[in-house]
Amino acid sequence: MAPHRLTSALLTSLLATILTAGTTDAALLDVPSPKNYVRRALARATVLNNHVYIEGGQITQYEDGFSSIRGRVENQVNSTLSIPLNESWKSESVTIKATPKPFESLARNRWYLWTDTKNGVFYAWGGYWPFGLEMVTDEVYKFTADSRGGGEWGVETLPNGLRLDQISPGEAGAVTSTGTMGIVIGGQATPWTQLGRDNTRQLSGMITFDFESKALMNGTQKFSPFGDTPVVGASAEFISGVGENGIVVVMGGHVGRTDKEVPLGEMDFFDMRNVTFFDPVTKETWSQVTTGDIPPSPRIGFCTAAFSSKEGGHEIFIFGGSNERDYLVYEDAYVLSLPGFVWTKLPTPPGGRRAYHTCVAVGNRQVLSVGGRGREDEIQIRDAIPQGLLLFDMTATEWKLEYDSNAAAYESANAIKDWYKKR
Ligand SMILES: *[C@@H]1O[C@H](CO)[C@@H](O)[C@H](O)[C@H]1NC(C)=O
Ligand SMILES: *[C@@H]1O[C@H](CO)[C@@H](O)[C@H](O)[C@H]1NC(C)=O
Ligand SMILES: *[C@@H]1O[C@H](CO)[C@@H](O)[C@H](O)[C@H]1NC(C)=O
Ligand SMILES: *[C@@H]1O[C@H](CO)[C@@H](O)[C@H](O)[C@H]1NC(C)=O
Repeated sequence: MAPHRLTSALLTSLLATILTAGTTDAALLDVPSPKNYVRRALARATVLNNHVYIEGGQITQYEDGFSSIRGRVENQVNSTLSIPLNESWKSESVTIKATPKPFESLARNRWYLWTDTKNGVFYAWGGYWPFGLEMVTDEVYKFTADSRGGGEWGVETLPNGLRLDQISPGEAGAVTSTGTMGIVIGGQATPWTQLGRDNTRQLSGMITFDFESKALMNGTQKFSPFGDTPVVGASAEFISGVGENGIVVVMGGHVGRTDKEVPLGEMDFFDMRNVTFFDPVTKETWSQVTTGDIPPSPRIGFCTAAFSSKEGGHEIFIFGGSNERDYLVYEDAYVLSLPGFVWTKLPTPPGGRRAYHTCVAVGNRQVLSVGGRGREDEIQIRDAIPQGLLLFDMTATEWKLEYDSNAAAYESANAIKDWYKKR
């Protein structure tokens, strides 16, 4: 995925070509049976019309329920997947629906998804082509969900603002949606993110995409919370209940380079102790030093989900991720609580270390984590979590392998309530 691993990935794909010579990829599935499921990674998920949509990424599968990997080790997922939220299910048996896409170029890793919940639409831009294969010119795609877990793909026309050829599509930016616009902070452009590009550079600035006018903007000073500092691998969550316009909370990632190629692990990083947040409308920015069980840094490739209680508390869940400096993958999860800016460590997640998964808030108080892997070659090691679908109850602070469609409203966990009571 990272550009300095290009060679190893090229080798993998070469090797896979040799391994699959004489066989056909046609029988590979975007949703293998639970017993043939090995790993899904690098996908993105979002919620629309009471379904979780899972977009892009790569899948590794067995052909016989045992140890023989079918096809190329990692195969890009070619359909849009969905899971219903109107009924309870178990990870080991839930049926994942697959809707084919109209064009192959829509198979992308780590897409940027911008969700317009009100209109039942998500927009997809950026991300990278698996193995850099079959790349096409950049577009903003639009997916309109139906009420049955399917929907339709199209290409969005951008009447105002920037033209797509004036910006560099990238991956590993911090992505979120505010209800009226999509946001990407930083990221990096590589030969796998843009047709014809021959170098890798981290990006400064912030991109916004207005859901109504479709205007695309990019800015640094008084626009991006990090000015012209390039940021790669951070995460962002929008919290609607704070201030007039809500706030976007940004954490993790590295300080990139715009002048030369540097491995991620050698870059400066943003300590998880220091959290940045900004008003997405006025762009006013603050930073806050946090307390409690501060998650170790550096950290990229982790997933996040945000919850608000009716008492006025806001919590951001974070799970796993990768430390490129020490070459390790985290096996941990935390909650950051606002307005106290205090971290609480959560029980150790089952299923081992995990990065490049994707998380969404579902069913009032649950997190659904989809896919993920340990180190890059661990995409071949079968996930202990059935179909890679791991759930967490934010109020009971419990990991689960089932989704409850009747879960009660979200309330902060007792440990968090106690912290506020003591102050
Ligand atoms: C998706 O399509 C590509 C290109 O045809 C193919 O190589 C890949 O194996 C397909 N993925 C799956 C899971 O079948
Ligand atoms: C949930 O929605 C699906 C459509 O995606 C529908 O087929 C099913 O009957 C619904 N289940 C319930 C319990 O309403
Ligand atoms: C946004 O603008 C900055 C400053 O001009 C530029 O360095 C950056 O590459 C732009 N971002 C994208 C995604 O093109
Ligand atoms: C926290 O991060 C912000 C943004 O990068 C920076 O301006 C600020 O100096 C940092 N504060 C501390 C205490 O490190």
